[in-house]
Amino acid sequence: MQFARHRRLRQTANLRAMVRETHLHTEDFIYPIFVIEGEKIKNEVPSMPGVYQQSLDYALEDVSEAVDLGIRSIIVFGVPNEKNDIASQAYCEHGIVQRAIRAIKDAFPELVVIADTCLCHYTSHGHCGIVENGTIINDDTLELLAKTAVSQAKAGADIIAPSNMMDGFVTAIRQALDEEGFTYVPIMSYAVKYASAFYGPFRDAAHSAPQFGDRKTYQMDAANRLEAFREAQADVDQGADFLMVKPALSYLDIIRDLKNHFHLPIVAYNVSGEYAMVKAAEQNGWIDEKAVVLEMLTSMKRAGADLILTYFAKDVARWLKGEK
Ligand code: PBG
Repeated sequence: MQFARHRRLRQTANLRAMVRETHLHTEDFIYPIFVIEGEKIKNEVPSMPGVYQQSLDYALEDVSEAVDLGIRSIIVFGVPNEKNDIASQAYCEHGIVQRAIRAIKDAFPELVVIADTCLCHYTSHGHCGIVENGTIINDDTLELLAKTAVSQAKAGADIIAPSNMMDGFVTAIRQALDEEGFTYVPIMSYAVKYASAFYGPFRDAAHSAPQFGDRKTYQMDAANRLEAFREAQADVDQGADFLMVKPALSYLDIIRDLKNHFHLPIVAYNVSGEYAMVKAAEQNGWIDEKAVVLEMLTSMKRAGADLILTYFAKDVARWLKGEK
């Protein structure tokens, strides 16, 4: 009888490890933090158990733990006190994100600090740009995004990560950074960002839900694949240094497509809804959290992600060290 014996290589843990094709490393993960104004504040996000809005004092402790665990990079989201139509806290020198970046870089100079560059946490209407008569105005928004990126770079951000999905944002931000002397600050573009229902819990965490309508006029339609190539190509042409796909789990095909067609580092964003589903099932005793999370993150790397932005970053770092 002639057939292949696939089970030969599956017999023992050591054999399986020898032929394993995909590995997770602590250095693969980018850890997100939400920084809120004030002192001694640590609010757990109800839909994201284990994730907190933290004032800077607690945020520094959290970052310190991440650094001790071997995490190389974090991304900072701000929860400002004041919101208005022109998102002025987004590009204010003393804005919450700018202060957080300064303090974190002071304490951890080696840590790669990424700034999320968007306006939705800072606008009163919760949209990612300037709104006129119910429409999000692309080109006027670019100026504010460029200002925001420059203020974040001035505060010490190592990487600018624009997530707003306005057309031309990479060009606008690259040009502004270069003019201000930040030629070497890379842009991690949320190149392919879908209008997704998986962002719900994040909007609780960042208080950034749109107050009217939705984001479908600027974020992508979940049904589209070719459009992802057009979006990514445009960002490559405009000078992006990393390409991000967001969300991750329902878009592993897109991660693979980008990995095959472009030669920039690919980043997968394991978003809030993906986190919340695991936590909810785990709290009900329905799944084994650690096993499920490791399997999910491995699938993202197998799909082609070089880096993964995930709220599980610290947990995984612990598990990879053999801790519980
Ligand atoms: C800002 C932004 C969003 C997320 C990251 N940056 C939300 C949105 O577009 O509404 C979502 C992240 C997550 O769900 O974890 N535009």
